[in-house]
Amino acid sequence: MSVRPVFLLALAGSGVGALLLLLGLRWALLVPLAKTVEWIRRMRSGETLEPKILPKRGLFAPLSREITRMARSLVAARNAAEEEARLRHAGESRWTPDRLKEQVRTLLEGRPILVVANREPYMHVRQGRQVQCVVPASGVVTAMEPILRACGGTWIAHGSGEADRETVDSRDRLKVPPEEPLYTLRRVWLSGEEEEGYYYGFSNEGLWPLCHIAHTRPLFRVEDWAHYGAVNAKFAHAVLEEIAEEEEPLILIQDYHFALLPRLIHEKRPDAKIALFWHIPWPNPEAFGICPWARELLQGMLGADLLGFHIQFHCNNFLSTVDRLLESRIDWERFTINRGGQTTRVKPFPISIAAREAKPRREDPMPPPSPRPKVMRELGLNVQWLGVGVDRIDYTKGIVERFRAIERFLEKHPAFQGKFSFVELAAPSRTLIKRYQDLGVELEAEVDRINRRFQNQGWKPILFLKGHHSHGEIDLFYRAADVCLVTSLHDGMNLVAKEFVVARTDFQGVLILSQFAGASRELADALLVNPYDMDQVAEAIRYALTMDLGEQRTRMLRMYETIQEHNVYRWAADLIAELAKLRREAPHPLQAPAE
Ligand code: G6P
Repeated sequence: MSVRPVFLLALAGSGVGALLLLLGLRWALLVPLAKTVEWIRRMRSGETLEPKILPKRGLFAPLSREITRMARSLVAARNAAEEEARLRHAGESRWTPDRLKEQVRTLLEGRPILVVANREPYMHVRQGRQVQCVVPASGVVTAMEPILRACGGTWIAHGSGEADRETVDSRDRLKVPPEEPLYTLRRVWLSGEEEEGYYYGFSNEGLWPLCHIAHTRPLFRVEDWAHYGAVNAKFAHAVLEEIAEEEEPLILIQDYHFALLPRLIHEKRPDAKIALFWHIPWPNPEAFGICPWARELLQGMLGADLLGFHIQFHCNNFLSTVDRLLESRIDWERFTINRGGQTTRVKPFPISIAAREAKPRREDPMPPPSPRPKVMRELGLNVQWLGVGVDRIDYTKGIVERFRAIERFLEKHPAFQGKFSFVELAAPSRTLIKRYQDLGVELEAEVDRINRRFQNQGWKPILFLKGHHSHGEIDLFYRAADVCLVTSLHDGMNLVAKEFVVARTDFQGVLILSQFAGASRELADALLVNPYDMDQVAEAIRYALTMDLGEQRTRMLRMYETIQEHNVYRWAADLIAELAKLRREAPHPLQAPAE
């Protein structure tokens, strides 16, 4: 063979070799590098991608590791920046005590706020020889107190504590809160008879069961009605005294104890701007119509310029009731009622709580320590799961139904026996009323029966802690629990549900909430239940106790945001702004006359 063909063959061979080498190099180096460049480009433009494309072994292993780390920190940094931006935006739109104070000062041009609510925010009671100041268990107090703290003003209430008279000045006033006086509490005194007829009788044996669908029959006694009228007149007198020096004063009346008060004030001071906020549900016209004094109550309420309910449904019921029982001109589009020269606007304002803790970051490196070990130790509990309920002892709260659902849960899921305990913090309420006394007895008996059925040495399913618990104590239980049960048979709003969510800055725990509480409209991430359906509530408890932490966190975060966004400062700002902007309209030529 001549040299030439051999050379050519060798040349061709090395050419193919070089080509193969090039192809190999391209496959081993250039393709991964090109994919990496493409991956970096897409990450930069905002996509979140796992760097799976790089080989995990061999030459590229160290690069792959570094890029993976970098990708993760980039995603974390991007999430943190988004969270920061969201919080900054939310912070700007959020209502705070200062923002409310400023708004009220502008709207009211320096005039003070006047609140009328039967229940006082601070009550002086005797403990042996000592006088103690307590904050009563009341949704109205929880909601209204932060507003008065922020804006100042006066709260007129029934002085119901046995040591109340010893703690006021000569004009029945005192500055509160005791540790940091910010506003005035004016106490109105009632005789035993007045309290019995107006508070226990007409308000709580008549109107309370009338407005709640909880199957307790309302009692209407003519003597109670007379006391209700007289006490409303007594409060009107106190209000008129307070506003004597004010022009166009603004008055915020709270709840079903004062249906007659708006008209009584309006008659004497037509320049006053009056809102009545109804904290409990409003029933349909058939239900309300059974009250012998239904028309008088409506006429009294329509003395207000603004009537607030928690939800639209109750506003609708109210308008239908007026439509059915009184002669009036109703504007169903603007939700106003015109009668006897006065227009009343009816509008929903879902009430809330102060909720002003700073929101922790999504991945807070130092979550607050859980009070759970302390709570367990103090109650002598040694269980894996803890449930909590916080209520006044009231038949509308569905406490008996809740206990039976717990019984059903333990029956259906015996694996939880010995491992789950439920603590009920129950504040005695309206204890002079027979229905409430009966309920107290029934609850004790049910707890006893259920405990005897399941308990073993060292374990009980239900702990019924009857008594007054301070906000601080309740907060420990909220934070220690795996699940909170709010099973009202009917409730205007229910602020316990909102308090539980806001207490959980660790975004853990599950809220089981009655679909018949106003709060269910806003807190859609709770496990919503029909409290009459024992099996459904039992299943909700099981679902709650086995829910993974990710799902708990997602649900709690969303509810937390909702409550922060719609806190009580915003509620007050909306209500006061609406009231301040209402102008008394000139009588319409065709309007219905006052009766
Ligand atoms: C409900 C009512 C409040 C009341 C509270 C406690 O939340 O809407 O007006 O204050 O119950 O009841 P009590 O009769 O003790 O004030």
